[in-house]
Amino acid sequence: MKKRACVLGLAVISNIGLASVSWAKDPAQIVVAHRGASGYLPEHTLPAKALAYGMKPDYIEQDVVMTKDDQLVVLHDHYLDRVTNVAEVFPDRAREDNRYYAIDFTLAEIKQLKVTEGFTLDDSGKPKAVFQDRFPIWQSNFSVPTFAEEIEMIQGLNKTLGYDVGLYPEIKAPAFHRHEGKDISKAVLTMLKKYGYTSKDDKVYLQSFDPIELKRIDKELMPEMKMDLKLVQLMAYTDWNETMVYKGDTSTPYSYDWMFKDDGMQQVAQYADGIGPWKPMVIDDKSTSSNIMVMPLVAQAKKAGLKIHPYTFRADEGRIPSYAKDFNDMLDIFYNKAKVDGVFTDFPDKAVTFLNRK
Ligand code: G3P
Ligand code: CA
Repeated sequence: MKKRACVLGLAVISNIGLASVSWAKDPAQIVVAHRGASGYLPEHTLPAKALAYGMKPDYIEQDVVMTKDDQLVVLHDHYLDRVTNVAEVFPDRAREDNRYYAIDFTLAEIKQLKVTEGFTLDDSGKPKAVFQDRFPIWQSNFSVPTFAEEIEMIQGLNKTLGYDVGLYPEIKAPAFHRHEGKDISKAVLTMLKKYGYTSKDDKVYLQSFDPIELKRIDKELMPEMKMDLKLVQLMAYTDWNETMVYKGDTSTPYSYDWMFKDDGMQQVAQYADGIGPWKPMVIDDKSTSSNIMVMPLVAQAKKAGLKIHPYTFRADEGRIPSYAKDFNDMLDIFYNKAKVDGVFTDFPDKAVTFLNRK
């Protein structure tokens, strides 16, 4: 299978004023702003995070990678070439596979780059936006934020606006980073601790696709660092090559097969608090509007006591599954039929409105 081509403690009654909304530590069903308000502004830029913040999600997501000089930056890929002008600024710095790796650049170099909407190159080498109806490519001026800059902005807004928006960082390709000599998990935990996130009561979920690394975080790193954060196991199919296992300089795809077996969720619950499945792992893509089929994974995860936060909910043309009439209908199916605990969405305003928080 191919990857896509990514109590109420609130007084939740519509039309109540913001001042009367009390921000629960974690409402029963949450909204995670996926890469910020990335449906409206270039992903993972501080403006996209500030816009997301104003939409009042419960959490804002950060994908985190490391630079040559050991700084943590917020980027979805451990490459720079999908969302920046790195090929123009540093034309000689690609590796043999023609990709520009963030880990080969210092923070000062990365700060020289312009960030734009995700793009691919057409046959003539011209950049073409992946989402044609989103923010125009190369327009305005955006840069790559550090993880610290983003945490400080969210915490600053929590102070000035009085909301309690949490962090939802993902450690990207930890095995790749360790193979390159960098312990990204330790660096992310150190940064979270520095900014006051140490226990399961703190408003943070730490996510990764890599089960080996999540177990290491749970069993070794967090106890050593006197931390105990909520962990989320992101789910992939083996043939996506999302997680690689290194032996010397050779890497092979990590096999996720065990996770889809009957006791898979019980095993995940030994080290994680929740799962982040791809949408079709929750609702069978063969569903129709009159026959919505919730996958067995949902009952298995609930039985194991795991939160379920599927990804990624997009309102763009062509991104609504055929079994749903529109974006709201898709949310209704996931929140109310599958009864998931939250969703990752590029359009946090729509999910917040759906949950009737405004
Ligand atoms: O982390 C949840 C979701 O973001 C996983 O997909 O590829 O967008 O990081 P991706
Ligand atoms: Ca992510």
